[in-house]
Amino acid sequence: MFVVTGVTGHTGSVAAEALLAAKQAVRVVVRDAAKGAQWKERGAEVAIATIEDTASMTRALEGATGAYVLLPPPAWGEPNVAANRTALTANLLTALRAAAPKHTVFLSSVGAQHADKTGPIKWLNPIERALRESGLRSTFVRAAFFMENWGGSLGGALASGSLYYGLAADKKFSQVATKDIGRTVANALLEPHASGARVIELAGPEELSLDDTAAVMSAVSGKSVKAVTVPVEAMVASLEGMGASKDVASGYGELVQGINANHVAWEGGAAQFVRGATTLETVLRAMLAKG
Ligand SMILES: NC(=O)c1ccc[n+]([C@@H]2O[C@H](COP(=O)([O-])OP(=O)(O)OC[C@H]3O[C@@H](n4cnc5c(N)ncnc54)[C@H](OP(=O)(O)O)[C@@H]3O)[C@@H](O)[C@H]2O)c1
Repeated sequence: MFVVTGVTGHTGSVAAEALLAAKQAVRVVVRDAAKGAQWKERGAEVAIATIEDTASMTRALEGATGAYVLLPPPAWGEPNVAANRTALTANLLTALRAAAPKHTVFLSSVGAQHADKTGPIKWLNPIERALRESGLRSTFVRAAFFMENWGGSLGGALASGSLYYGLAADKKFSQVATKDIGRTVANALLEPHASGARVIELAGPEELSLDDTAAVMSAVSGKSVKAVTVPVEAMVASLEGMGASKDVASGYGELVQGINANHVAWEGGAAQFVRGATTLETVLRAMLAKG
């Protein structure tokens, strides 16, 4: 039995679909029973659990041959990101240790080998470390910057002709489609390694800069979009203007600085390097089609 948490999200939905398509027994974990109905119809078992309620999450993970887990992102207005991340991390690890799935696949990120100066990624490092130390067989899927992150900027960029961001315009970095993350997760569950911790670093088909991203936005929309690098402080202030808490906004500022400085980068070494096939063009076209 494979257990998939975060099944209503970007990556969990794709992983669960891939496992069901491979005729595997799947238990999906939802917070709201109504969101489980479509999965039940497709033959999955449904468990209702939240990370905050450790007992419910432990029950949901029990008996798993393989389990997919992630640290859900904080709310946009979360005032105390550190306290929120620390509490969720402790609960998630408690549930994993108690249920002890035969194999845990954890959604991590490029740069999660570092404990600091990586913005939101720094909260994934303690989970990698704890799972490594626990001796539980674990795979860390360290995904690149999600292509879907541009969903928040696409409309404004097309309307104004400018894609504003704190990244250096010509700095190439990895971007991956969440569909490719979900598929990689399913493959990792279906093909576990022998023991201990395994790292999969997951990039997209090619590295892209902010300039390249703006060019793809132009190509898919037929409108001219130019990349505009703004000072990181201005980007942080603008995120706060859009309702992000100081903590959340400054985390993104640190992330952008980390990418610009090549600190948020692949670890390499023993990690397995995988490239997804989905292009940014495909992802942006799908976003435009949805409207
Ligand atoms: N954005 C990036 O560029 C990037 C890059 C690398 C790694 N990451 C990491 O990716 C992760 C997010 O993955 P994602 O995009 O697949 O997630 P997502 O689409 O935001 O989905 C989050 C899922 O978690 C569930 N959830 C939320 N709070 C929960 C709780 N308290 N207990 C149980 N379930 C809960 C949600 O269910 P509901 O439907 O109930 O809300 C949803 O299914 C984060 O850890 C982030 O650091 C992000």
